[in-house]
Amino acid sequence: MSKPVHILGIAGSLRRGSYNRAALRAATQLVPQDAALDIFELDGIPGFNQDEEQNPPGKVAELKRRVRDADAILFVTPEYNYSIPGVLKNAIDWASRPYGDNAWSGKPAAIMGASIGAIGTARAQYHLRQVFVFLNMFPVNQPEVMIGNAAERFDAQGNLTHEPTKDHIRRLLQSLVAWTGWLAQSQRKSQ
Ligand SMILES: Cc1cc2nc3c(=O)[nH]c(=O)nc-3n(C[C@H](O)[C@H](O)[C@H](O)COP(=O)(O)O)c2cc1C
Repeated sequence: MSKPVHILGIAGSLRRGSYNRAALRAATQLVPQDAALDIFELDGIPGFNQDEEQNPPGKVAELKRRVRDADAILFVTPEYNYSIPGVLKNAIDWASRPYGDNAWSGKPAAIMGASIGAIGTARAQYHLRQVFVFLNMFPVNQPEVMIGNAAERFDAQGNLTHEPTKDHIRRLLQSLVAWTGWLAQSQRKSQ
């Protein structure tokens, strides 16, 4: 039996009652049997300072290690002013540096996001896809999981209660696991 696909989940919000963090927690219960999903929390990461990139703060070193250990990354992003939140971009920037030591390079990725608005983080998700180009990450295209009107889909305790959304997340994770296997196989063939 092959080893389970190890997914690292990162939510781009520090808010205690965050819908995106709640969606990521929900995702841990929706992974396929041949995969495991664990979470890296972004709290405690200072603002990026290029003077420190050769010797980054401990939390950044931990992030880079966890990203490298993972087979695939799941980003769960809020939408702030039509883009990804600074806290997420900041973490991405740290782990992409110094030049030549980009921890994200070559990783398969999936994106989902939750917003209180109707469009469900679509604009932020497309910005994140653009960032993946320079990071050399390989995102799953479909399904797109854009959770609009989030206040109606989670209960007061932060549990995702909307069954169609759970199903959508389940399908995204299945797609990520299949994509990760496919990429690993084609990398082996090209070696
Ligand atoms: C600075 C800021 C900018 C925001 N901009 C957007 C936006 O562009 N589009 C949107 O749908 N929601 C926007 N929102 C509302 C967020 O969708 C909402 O705060 C959401 O709950 C944030 O995610 P979280 O619950 O995971 O913290 C914004 C919120 C903040 C604080």
